[in-house]
Amino acid sequence: MSTIKSSFLAATILMLLLLVVTVDAQSSADVVFPFKRYGNIVSGTDIRKTLANAWKDACTSNRSSAIFTPRGIFKVKQGKFEGPCNSPIDFQLGGTLQAPKSVQGYNWITFARVDRLTLLGEGVFHGQGKAAWKRNDCHKRINSAQLPVTLENAWKDACTSNRSSAIFIPRGIFTVKQGNFEGPYNSPIDFQLGGTLQAPKSVQGDNWITFARVDRLTLLGEEVFHGQGKAAWKRNDCHKRRNSAQLLVSLRFNFITNSTVKGITSLDSKNFHINVLGCNNLTFHNINIAAPEKSPNTDGIHIGRSNNITITKSKIATGDDCISLGDDCISLGDESKLIEVTNVTCGPGHGISIRSLGRYTNEEPVEGVIVKNCTLVNTTNGVRIKTWPASAASSTATNMHFLDIIMVNVSNPILIDQEYCPCNRQIPSKIKISTVSFKNIRGSSATPLAIKLICSHHLLYDDVKVSNLDLTYNGIKGSICSQCSNVKPIISGKQNPKICSSPYVVR
Ligand SMILES: *[C@@H]1O[C@H](CO)[C@@H](O)[C@H](O)[C@H]1NC(C)=O
Ligand SMILES: *[C@@H]1O[C@H](CO)[C@@H](O)[C@H](O)[C@H]1NC(C)=O
Ligand SMILES: *[C@@H]1O[C@H](CO)[C@@H](O)[C@H](O)[C@H]1NC(C)=O
Ligand SMILES: *[C@@H]1O[C@H](CO)[C@@H](O)[C@H](O)[C@H]1NC(C)=O
Ligand SMILES: *[C@@H]1O[C@H](CO)[C@@H](O)[C@H](O)[C@H]1NC(C)=O
Ligand SMILES: *[C@@H]1O[C@H](CO)[C@@H](O)[C@H](O)[C@H]1NC(C)=O
Ligand SMILES: *[C@@H]1O[C@H](CO)[C@@H](O)[C@H](O)[C@H]1NC(C)=O
Ligand SMILES: *[C@@H]1O[C@H](CO)[C@@H](O)[C@H](O)[C@H]1NC(C)=O
Ligand SMILES: *[C@@H]1O[C@H](CO)[C@@H](O)[C@H](O)[C@H]1NC(C)=O
Repeated sequence: MSTIKSSFLAATILMLLLLVVTVDAQSSADVVFPFKRYGNIVSGTDIRKTLANAWKDACTSNRSSAIFTPRGIFKVKQGKFEGPCNSPIDFQLGGTLQAPKSVQGYNWITFARVDRLTLLGEGVFHGQGKAAWKRNDCHKRINSAQLPVTLENAWKDACTSNRSSAIFIPRGIFTVKQGNFEGPYNSPIDFQLGGTLQAPKSVQGDNWITFARVDRLTLLGEEVFHGQGKAAWKRNDCHKRRNSAQLLVSLRFNFITNSTVKGITSLDSKNFHINVLGCNNLTFHNINIAAPEKSPNTDGIHIGRSNNITITKSKIATGDDCISLGDDCISLGDESKLIEVTNVTCGPGHGISIRSLGRYTNEEPVEGVIVKNCTLVNTTNGVRIKTWPASAASSTATNMHFLDIIMVNVSNPILIDQEYCPCNRQIPSKIKISTVSFKNIRGSSATPLAIKLICSHHLLYDDVKVSNLDLTYNGIKGSICSQCSNVKPIISGKQNPKICSSPYVVR
């Protein structure tokens, strides 16, 4: 795998390069340029000029040549050995070359544009880095204006590479105004995040980091995408107003295929943390998402119009839905197939939701969702399916299964709501829900109404299966109950509370 490092890494001061190579006192070169030819040099002096002269002669020689540097310790302020040269050169290092102690400049010894160079010897290149290390804060401070350019250049190089490649972002905190990483490209890319990328604090625009039209991307790393959302949240009213100004979504994955995102953290997004659109075979593993409980619209991972999306072993604590599938302020319509969510812990937040279906006219059906072995803690909902009444068009949501789920103090653990909206609830939803199951769901409810299955007036369920539900309520607002409307679930196993035990009371 070839490695393309962002160019600022090259700025890192050359520290200490030790050459431990077998000595070859002899050379098969036709001509030898020993140092004494260039004057009497003594240990401790600067031999920059001598080196430069010897190189010039060797480089212009029409026969293969050798340069010998003698034993001893010599200072070299800077050495640039540049071709093209006429013939092969052996560069034999006998002694120690010392860099200056001062920390200015980017280059010490450079070999450039040379064909058939042999660099050998027992000598030492001593970078004298000690004094510089204290002052080397490139890992902390990079001119913030520089980074996006650097990142985009690195992306461009990786994108055009014909071999699989990797981009490394070093440790440190970097501000990135916007990052667009768009394919298509030639070969797989690893994008490895070592540091923290910070969004600008300003609240304009709706994209921050976007990956688009890429096949075989691996995004991984231990550190953080920081959305700097705090100031923006006050102004985020898109949950109230349909056409309000858009705020930055931290990470967008648009039309990404056969790819993996692992280990990353997203903090304090201004709007959604992660938005997945039109992707196919994308896995999120070991993702950590956090924003305060009161931050508006900070959905953890929102998925729309995608196939085969897997989310595993992740932790999501946020102000809105932990994982959501469906429509919203941003994308128009959805087709989400084979979405699998396993080993995920959510909370605080609004839970796992297939949501707001039926709001727009051009929606695609939702089909094939499995939510398994997840834990919800202190969320306002557990698992829910919600559709708008007075739907813009008819559509379907089918094959959705929720199993092995633990609820800890969740306000509405199980919820189907086909009357969800700030609109006319009298006109029934035209979204047909079918083949839904809730199985092995246990834990505690923060309200007495633990299970609510409210379906559309004129579309009866094909089948809703409920088995082994064991929920408790320990509060003082009554005993635990369940409400249903227009649905007769197929029940098996434990029933705590008894399913459809209470009459549905219209709000
Ligand atoms: C090397 O060969 C070229 C072309 O034959 C000639 O012009 C040049 O002077 C030669 N250089 C030396 C150092 O002899
Ligand atoms: C990659 O391969 C294509 C087609 O073989 C070629 O045109 C292109 O120059 C190559 N790119 C690089 C960076 O080598
Ligand atoms: C994803 O991988 C599959 C199987 O390797 C391949 O057929 C498909 O073309 C890939 N998708 C894209 C968009 O390259
Ligand atoms: C799906 O993507 C993964 C990489 O995350 C890849 O290993 C796998 O081959 C892809 N599957 C298909 C069918 O392309
Ligand atoms: C679906 O995703 C899983 C997990 O990444 C992968 O193993 C499988 O190959 C994918 N299938 C297709 C058809 O892309
Ligand atoms: C869930 O976690 C368990 C235990 O760590 C592991 O065996 C299982 O493979 C995980 N499931 C998925 C789909 O990653
Ligand atoms: C369920 O997920 C948790 C992590 O959330 C994991 O520790 C546990 O092993 C998983 N259990 C199974 C059976 O996959
Ligand atoms: C749930 O929320 C309450 C009140 O904010 C808090 O005291 C408690 O620690 C939370 N529980 C867990 C498990 O995080
Ligand atoms: C349960 O959730 C409610 C509402 O979110 C909260 O007020 C309460 O403190 C939580 N209780 C515990 C024990 O975490």
